[in-house]
Amino acid sequence: MADYTVEFVGTGERLTVSDTETILSRCIEEGIAQEYSCRVGMCLACSAKILEGTVTQPAARGLTEAEREAYALTCMARPQSDLVLDRGKYPPSIEGDLAAEVDADVDGGDGDAAAADD
Ligand code: FES
Repeated sequence: MADYTVEFVGTGERLTVSDTETILSRCIEEGIAQEYSCRVGMCLACSAKILEGTVTQPAARGLTEAEREAYALTCMARPQSDLVLDRGKYPPSIEGDLAAEVDADVDGGDGDAAAADD
């Protein structure tokens, strides 16, 4: 087991997280206001951009393979080095998900908003 320092830029918050626990669980223990919702790596609410360092997060299903290098889902991510994170930054794939949800709300999910107006 190894302990690493996790720093959130712009907040002055810094905590120690072992490589056996998630960043989110440690935030909750320390009273740091890290956003979250599902806690199973799907909703992306707990996302943070990785500015320095590396994490392991094999169960971060909400991220594409490429996004796993640049973003940490703190509910799944365990540090593999000291980290500098920018909290509340979301990966590009969330834009597609949100667009799909809005489209589904507008037209009932058939992908053709114009047809809903007929
Ligand atoms: S809380 Fe939903 S992905 Fe982390």
